[in-house]
Amino acid sequence: MSEPARAQLPDEASRGERDADPGFLWDFWYPAARSAEIRGRRLLTATLLEVPLVLGRTDQGQAFAMRDSCPHRGIPLSYGCFDGKNVECSYHGWRFDGPSGQCVEIPSLTSQDKLKVERIYASRYPCQEHDGYVWVYMASPRTGEPPDAPRLRTFSERYRATHLACDLPSHIDHGIIGLMDPAHGPFVHQSWFWRSQKSIHEKAKQFEPIPNGFRMSPHSPSSNSAPYQVLRKLTGAPVTTVIDFVLPNMRTEEIRSGRLWFSSLTTVTPVRRDLCRIDFLAAWNVPLPVALFRMFARTFLRQDQQTMIQQAEGLKHNPRLMLIDDADRPAKWYFALKANLLEARRSGTEMPHPMEGPVTLRWRS
Ligand code: FES
Ligand SMILES: [Fe+2]
Repeated sequence: MSEPARAQLPDEASRGERDADPGFLWDFWYPAARSAEIRGRRLLTATLLEVPLVLGRTDQGQAFAMRDSCPHRGIPLSYGCFDGKNVECSYHGWRFDGPSGQCVEIPSLTSQDKLKVERIYASRYPCQEHDGYVWVYMASPRTGEPPDAPRLRTFSERYRATHLACDLPSHIDHGIIGLMDPAHGPFVHQSWFWRSQKSIHEKAKQFEPIPNGFRMSPHSPSSNSAPYQVLRKLTGAPVTTVIDFVLPNMRTEEIRSGRLWFSSLTTVTPVRRDLCRIDFLAAWNVPLPVALFRMFARTFLRQDQQTMIQQAEGLKHNPRLMLIDDADRPAKWYFALKANLLEARRSGTEMPHPMEGPVTLRWRS
C-alpha cells in the first residue's frame, strides 16, 4: 500500500479552523475522576472535552455529573453546597436534584408565581462507576440512553490491580498517536530492565479491523522483552498478547500464558484542546508485587510524558508533520476512523472501516 509520505495532522490545519473545532469525539464515555475522590457530600470539579463538570455522590451512593454552571446565571454550581440529594446554587439558592439535574426549588418565588420549577434542568451527564473510575458519558444534546461504560477485563477471581494517571500538554490526537506508536520504544523507553536500543530489530505484526478500531492480532510478544521471557519460564505455556485500539481513546492489552494473565486498559481523555490525561488501569494474577509493577509503569509513563512535553514545545510553532509507513499506519487508521465516524454521524450513514481486512505491518523497534 503506498500512501503519500506527508499527511495532514491537526496541527497543520489553519489556526482559525482549529479554534472553531477542537476535534473532540462526543457521545462516548470518558473517565472523569477516581471514585474515591468523590467522598461524602463534597463536590468535585473536572473538565472533559472543555466542558466544566461538577461531580458528587448522593447519600445513597449514586455518583452524578452536571455541567458546572447554574442554568440561572451561569455561576459554577461547585461553589454551592450539597446536602446528599440536592445541589444548592451559591448565588440565589436554586436547588437541583443531583442525578437528574431537575430544579426542585427557587427560593425567590412567591405564591403568585406561575413558573414551573420542575421544568428547569441543570445539564447533567450520565455517570457510571467501574474499576474505581467515575465514567461520564459526554453526550451531545440529541442522544438517548448510552451503552455501558468500558470495563477492564479480568480472567480469574483473585488478582492484583493498580492505576496511574498523568497529564499531557497535548491535543488528544497527539496523545492517542503517541499511545499507539510502535517506533518510539527503543528511544524513549530505554531502561536496563526493559530493553536496550541495541536490541532494535525488524518486527512484523498482523492487524485486523474491529468495530470502531483495530486489533494487533494475537501474537507472541517480542522475545527481547525480559518480562515476557520470565512469564514463559513460569508457565511453560506460550505467551499471547492481544492489543486493541477502539474509538474514541482506548487501548486494551491482554497478555495470557496458561493460567496467568495480565490485562490493562489505557485511555487518553481530552480535557481541553491543549491538555489530555492518560489513565492507566491494570490487573494481573502473575506473581508481581503491586509496588514493583507501579515502579516500572510509572517510569514508562514519565518517559512518555517527558517526550510529549518536549513535543508540545515544538508544536507551538505549528510545524508540518509526517506520518510514514508502516510505523505510523496505526496513527493513520486512528485519523481515518475518527473522520469516518464523524462523517457517518453527520450523514446518518453507516461508518465505513478504513481497513479492508487483515494486514501485516513491518517496522523496526
Ligand atoms: S445563578 Fe444559580 S441560582 Fe441564580
Ligand atoms: Fe511510550
